[in-house]
Amino acid sequence: MPTYIGTATSRVDGVAKVTGAAKYAAEFNVPGLAHGSIVSATITKGRVLRIDADAAAQVKGVIAVLTHKNRPPMADSDEAYRDDVAPSGSPFRPLYDDRILFNGQPVALVVAETSDIANFAASLVRVDYQEEAHVTDLYRRRDDAAPVAAPTNPFEALFAPPKPRGAPDQAFAAAPVRHDAEYYVPIEHHNPMELYASTAIVGPDGKLTVYDKTQGVQNVQKYLSHVFNMKPEDVSVMSPFMGGGFGSGLRPSFQVVLAVLAARALRRSVRVMLTRAQMYEVGYRPAMIQRIAIGANAGGTLESMMHDAITVTSQYEDFHRQETGWSGLLYTCANAKYEAKLARLDLPTSCDMRAPSAASAVYALEAAMDEVAVALKLDPLELRLRCYSDREQHDNRPYSSKALRDCYRQGAAAFGWDKRSPEPRSMRDGSDLVGWGMATGVWEALQVPITVRIALSADGRAEVACATSDIGTGTYTIMAQVAADMLGLPIENITVKLGDSRLPQSPVEGGSWIAASVSNGIVTTAGAIRDELLRLAQQMPNSPLANAASAEVALADAKLMAKGDAARAIPIVDIMRHASVVRIEQEKTTNPVQDNGRAHNTHAAIFAEVKVDEQIGVVRVTRVVNAVAAGRILNTKTATSQILGGVVWGIGMALHEETLIDHKFGRVMNANIAEYHVPVHADIHDIKVIFVDEPDDSNPLGIKGLGEIGIVGVAAAIANAVYHATGKRIRDLPVTLDKVQA
Ligand code: MOS
Repeated sequence: MPTYIGTATSRVDGVAKVTGAAKYAAEFNVPGLAHGSIVSATITKGRVLRIDADAAAQVKGVIAVLTHKNRPPMADSDEAYRDDVAPSGSPFRPLYDDRILFNGQPVALVVAETSDIANFAASLVRVDYQEEAHVTDLYRRRDDAAPVAAPTNPFEALFAPPKPRGAPDQAFAAAPVRHDAEYYVPIEHHNPMELYASTAIVGPDGKLTVYDKTQGVQNVQKYLSHVFNMKPEDVSVMSPFMGGGFGSGLRPSFQVVLAVLAARALRRSVRVMLTRAQMYEVGYRPAMIQRIAIGANAGGTLESMMHDAITVTSQYEDFHRQETGWSGLLYTCANAKYEAKLARLDLPTSCDMRAPSAASAVYALEAAMDEVAVALKLDPLELRLRCYSDREQHDNRPYSSKALRDCYRQGAAAFGWDKRSPEPRSMRDGSDLVGWGMATGVWEALQVPITVRIALSADGRAEVACATSDIGTGTYTIMAQVAADMLGLPIENITVKLGDSRLPQSPVEGGSWIAASVSNGIVTTAGAIRDELLRLAQQMPNSPLANAASAEVALADAKLMAKGDAARAIPIVDIMRHASVVRIEQEKTTNPVQDNGRAHNTHAAIFAEVKVDEQIGVVRVTRVVNAVAAGRILNTKTATSQILGGVVWGIGMALHEETLIDHKFGRVMNANIAEYHVPVHADIHDIKVIFVDEPDDSNPLGIKGLGEIGIVGVAAAIANAVYHATGKRIRDLPVTLDKVQA
């Protein structure tokens, strides 16, 4: 029986975080550290004609003003700038040349002895531009949107629109109940608490150590070595802690280029930290115009599902995900088709943001399903049950596991869904209209190749190392839990090392794939440690494990013991002492089990209650139940926190969040967290998280990952509840009071 897996283990890095001992990218200090401040373009498209840095350079304490004119050499091929998760296209190159591709683009870096001096001097830099006409309004580009190109690599292939099935147009035309509507999700920004920052430290040997806020240290390390033509061993990238990434840190951010560029130009350690306003140029959830058409039978089964999406990207890269595929996946429906298009705007490239594509697409799907339920005069939960699919619909594959039915059942019971009165505006609490809405959530359960090193020392302590990141999700903690259980040691004896590019290989932490990948990686490597201990144990005189095979022994209670016979056991320290071994080290790569015959997804059922002030239209989300099926839950405490965070973000998506661009200037107008609204404590009421049992055998620990499933469907459940409360269907997010009252 595991001691730690499945428990509510507190974060092993909790004390370090609350005491400030945990250091973030902008907190690593060295003597002589210089500070860079970015000068941002004030036009949206065109060229830099002239940069007048004289006034800035004369400020006492200014060391240099770097521009595309005087920077050190950088690579000149797109390939060099293409990181592990880059979309196809021509990646942005900071301070590369005179072209301006988006408002806020860095055009100069002022480096000074202090950040205050750098910031002040940056305000003195004058830039002349040759301006060209730009477009930042998706609605002005929708007619020019082009279908997403065929994938050029296996990573992109994950996001190709699925193949259509049946005859969806004919089935739609013939369906007795038809729903066809357009839904809109605006540009949203991640707004993590920690600002993007990079501290590039020049060692005495000239080698660089870069403390960078990133979700992938090895991705950034490779990228920097390509961009600056450095030997891989001459640059290390560290990201021990991260104050929130949510996808914005999957790709190298431009400040890391600027910090390294300045460090190389000046042969001095340099830090560059973005301002909150500059955070709005890092990447964003693309705005999406979606059309969903559903043809249904009176009995609540589906005949046709059609989903078209137009997604925002930049002029230079084709970022997209599985925008349209989610709708044809979830419900039994013989006829389906999809059209995914990209609209190019003069903005930075859009990027992954928690449950990329699903958060937006499943909002549209689940809002549309609610409208179908209304048209059918059917309870929305009942509709989902009538078209429930036990098989994945795109390829008609079985699932490795799918406990969505249990999510519906347990979520509805916890919420009290059976007491819902179906008519809109039929439930009240004093002067408030009360609405109950629900939706389904779905996300991927992915696993990626990963390498884990474990070093067991003779005092019964172990160090577990992998170059993955903990983006705040709790990776340190689950790694310690799994290692403690697999090595049979107390969790206090486990040290976890991550966020260092020199450690064994890990892809970026994203897609909710690290928990499953690194945990099963630990299982593999701990198995190799166990085997080595068994080999040594069998050399001991009168060894009680003399004839035991590897599969017959396990590590538990700091002993190697025969499974089912705790009497046949030898303490780990005794084995190592007898063999005169002070350290056993193993490093193993774990690949995902090849299981292409089955589909792997997580699911959720979300039930939401809103109260709407009838006089002024203010919406409060008073209760949410999110029942999640995500395989084996490693840590009920951190897992619950992930889902709570997803629900809070879903409330933001439903009611608050929208990046507003002044299209005349092409600039974000609300580039701060005062005017970019996110939920605050007063917006958050009762949230209940349920994990339903979902045994899954597609990896040894049955883990699916759950960093992203928590947000998917939440915005739809809330928008559906607003409809139920008010009788008003709002199809463009966020559902703000002006739309409720319009
Ligand atoms: Mo996540 S959007 O893959 O960090």
